This record gives sequence, C-alpha cells and structure tokens, in this order.
Amino acid sequence: MKFRLSDNSDASWETFGKTNPYYGVLSADKFRRGNINDETLKEFFQSGEIHVDQTLELVRSHFPNALGRAAALDFGCGVGRLVLPLATRFQHVVGIDISDAYIAEAVSNCARAGTTNVEFFKTLDALQPRRGTFDFAHSYITFIHIDFERGRKIIEDIVRLLRPGGVAALHIMFRRDIGSARRVLNRLRTTFLPLNWIANVLGGRPAFEPLMQANVYSLDALLSALHPLGVRSSHVEVSHNAGNWHAYLFVQKD
Ligand SMILES: C[S@@+](CC[C@H](N)C(=O)[O-])C[C@H]1O[C@@H](n2cnc3c(N)ncnc32)[C@H](O)[C@@H]1O
Repeated sequence: MKFRLSDNSDASWETFGKTNPYYGVLSADKFRRGNINDETLKEFFQSGEIHVDQTLELVRSHFPNALGRAAALDFGCGVGRLVLPLATRFQHVVGIDISDAYIAEAVSNCARAGTTNVEFFKTLDALQPRRGTFDFAHSYITFIHIDFERGRKIIEDIVRLLRPGGVAALHIMFRRDIGSARRVLNRLRTTFLPLNWIANVLGGRPAFEPLMQANVYSLDALLSALHPLGVRSSHVEVSHNAGNWHAYLFVQKD
C-alpha cells in the first residue's frame, strides 16, 4: 500500500477491493472479511435482487414504456451485487468500476453464477462508441464517494450513453445536516489522513481502514447540466438518515 497523507478516493477503493470488498459495499460488520459466511453472502446478494426489482418497478411506474431490455449499465458495480440481477433482466450488462480488485471479484461472482452476458471496464471511456444505445443506466451508493465536479461529468457521460427514451437511476446525497465543526473535521480527514486513523480507532474500526468520502451533490446544478443533453423528465425518491439526505434520481432522455 502506498503511503499517503491525503485521501485518494480511487486508491482507497482499490484497498477496499483487495482487503474487504463486501464490507466496502455494505458497511455492516457481518460483511467484513473474516465474518462473512455462506448465509451472510446469500443475504448480501439477495439485497441486490430486491434493490433491482424495486428500481425497475419505479422506472415502470414513472416512465411507462421506457424500458427496453437490450442493454444496461451499472456504474460503480463493486462485486457485482446489482450487475447479477440486471443480467437476468437485460440482454447485455456493462459494469464499471475504478478498482481492478473489485472488477476481479465481480468477474469471479459472475463466473460462479454462470452469468455470461456481462462485461466490465474501469471507466466509461471504452463505451464512447456505444453512445445513444443503453436502455437503462444505474448507479447506487457510488457518487456519494466521488466529488461533485468529477461526478457531474460522469453523470453527463452516462446520460450520453442512453438511447432516446432511456432512463438512468442515480443515487446521490444532496444535503448533509451536520454542524460546522463536524463539517470541518470531515474535510480535514480527507486532506490529513492521520485524523482519519484517529477517527477509525475512536469508532472501533481498524486504524488504517481507508476513508469513504461522503460528497454532497447539487440537484439543481445537476438537472441544469443534464437539460441540454435531453433530460426533460425526472422523478426523485428522497430518503434521509442521521442528517444525510439522499436522492434516488430517475431521469429520462428525450
Ligand atoms: C459502496 S460500493 C457500491 C457497489 C455497488 N453499487 C452496490 O451497491 O453493490 C462503491 C463502488 O464504487 C466504486 N467506485 C468508486 N469511485 C469510482 C469511480 N470514480 N469510478 C467507478 N467506480 C467507482 C468503488 O470501487 C466501489 O466498488
């Protein structure tokens, strides 16, 4: 592991992928390496089936007739928790993940499941020739870990990949109600990692566990950036937990 004093989100995810891939996706102790077993692994993948069912039901109810079944994309696919159920509902699925270790785990999970209609890439670049061809694009608990400026450009690229009438379901955090001291501390944790190590120890986590960034996105900046790309209709499912406000944003391309 390379020694760093400030967080590099991509490197942090590679570390999670190598050391604790399932906990990196769903941060409950039962999914840590060493704790995970056949039963919890089943629960882990079952949660993906439920999520994809609920998501596609929301697409059907808010954008009737939108769903073609040819091609779907999952951005920030992790170990393939959501790629696997998407692969039984779409003819072809592309998983994108910045971490080689996560992609390796996803490839092995697809092989174990006998899933053959999936391919993986580290970035969206490889998909540029397929602009305008995806029926559905999806990203869950990923943009929260990517800073807004970078994430906004990725979301624009995702929308460019949609065919006319295609829908993207994008999970973002749009507001964080925390005090200003906590806000400053969180910021310092990303720029001076020893503070993160101390916070880990105080929180009962391994001292050098990588940081999971929590970035806030501006919904109005996002929607106005997507408008010129043909996004005129959207639906938002709002949830909040301990001051963190999340939007599951569904957008349709004209
Ligand atoms: C919390 S996990 C969620 C995985 C998956 N979406 C799920 O719900 O099962 C976040 C994933 O996003 C990936 N990720 C983080 N930053 C990324 C980026 N800039 N580009 C692509 N993938 C990224 C991480 O490697 C990790 O696998």
